[in-house]
Amino acid sequence: MAYPRRAPELIQIEHSPTGLRRWSAQRHRAGERVGLVPTMGALHEGHLELVRALSAKVDRVAVSIFVNPTQFGPNEDFSRYPRSEAEDLAKLASLGVDIAYMPSATDMYPDGFASAVKVGGTLTEVLDAVARPGHFDGVATVVAKLLLQAAPDVAAFGEKDYQQLQIVKRMARDLDLPVEIMPVPTVRDEHGLALSSRNQYLTTDELAVARRLNKVLAKTAEQLRAGALAEPATAAADAELRAIGFTSVDYVALAHPETLAPMARLDGPGRLLAAARLGKARLIDNIAVNPFGRA
Ligand code: PAJ
Repeated sequence: MAYPRRAPELIQIEHSPTGLRRWSAQRHRAGERVGLVPTMGALHEGHLELVRALSAKVDRVAVSIFVNPTQFGPNEDFSRYPRSEAEDLAKLASLGVDIAYMPSATDMYPDGFASAVKVGGTLTEVLDAVARPGHFDGVATVVAKLLLQAAPDVAAFGEKDYQQLQIVKRMARDLDLPVEIMPVPTVRDEHGLALSSRNQYLTTDELAVARRLNKVLAKTAEQLRAGALAEPATAAADAELRAIGFTSVDYVALAHPETLAPMARLDGPGRLLAAARLGKARLIDNIAVNPFGRA
C-alpha cells in the first residue's frame, strides 16, 4: 500500500503505554489492522524496509523507538548508542507511519518493576546468548511488553538479527500472543554489508574490513553446499576474518534455521551465522544455506 507523504510535524508521537493502547484499540474498533515495528532508533534503510513491508499488510503502522537498557550488558554501548530522534521522526513521517511510540525508561520500567520473560532451550544457549549473557532476556521482556502495549495484528522483525527473530517467534507461539511475526530479509549496502545502527562506530578503514564479512560467509556457504563439514569450514572462516583485520571473532556457525542447534554438515536447510568485533563495533550477519536442489 502506498502511503501519502506526510510532513514530519504531522506524525503522532505517543509516550505513554496507555496512550498507545488507546490508539490501537481505536484503530481496531474502526476495523483496521495494526502493525508494529519495534526499534531502538538511529533509523536506517533496514528499519525503513521493515516499515514498507509491514505497510503492505496492515492499515496502520506504529514504530516504537526505545533504547532498551535491559538488553545491554554492563560493558556494552548503552550510553553511547546512537540517538537521532528528529531525523528518525522525519523518516517515519515521510513513509506515512501513523504513530511513533517513544516511551521513557520509567514508562517501561516503573519503580518496583520485577518481571521478566525468558525463552529457554537451545535458542538462548548458543551464539549471541553466549557472547551477550542476559541480552535475550532483556529483548524478550521488552518485545513482550511492546506487543502487549500496541496489540498489533502483525509485527515486523529483521533477519539481520536472526537469533532475535527466532526467539521472538518462539515467545509469541509459546505465550499464545495473538500476533503474526513477519520476518524481513536483511538490507545491505552496495558492498553487501548488512546495515546496522552500530556501523556508525566504524572508521573508514574498518568499514572496508566490515564489508568483507558477507563475502566470507558467502564463500563458506558454498563450501558447505559442496559437502564440507561445518567444523573445518567455519574454523577456516574464523581464521580468515581475523587475517582480514577483524579484532576478534565471537563465532562462525552453521545452525538449524529454527532451533539454531549446531549442524555438523549441511544435511538439510541451514543458517550460517557470524559475529565479529572490529574496533568499537560488534558486527553480526547471517545467510540461508540450503543443500543443492532446495530453494
Ligand atoms: P534495532 O537494532 O533498532 O532493530 C530494529 C529492527 O530492525 C529489528 O527487527 C532488526 O532486525 C531490524 N533491522 C536492523 N537492521 C536491519 C537490516 N539491515 N535489514 C533488515 N532489518 C534490520 O533489534 C532491536 O532494535 C531491538 O533488539 C528491539 C527488537 C527493538 C528490542 O529492543
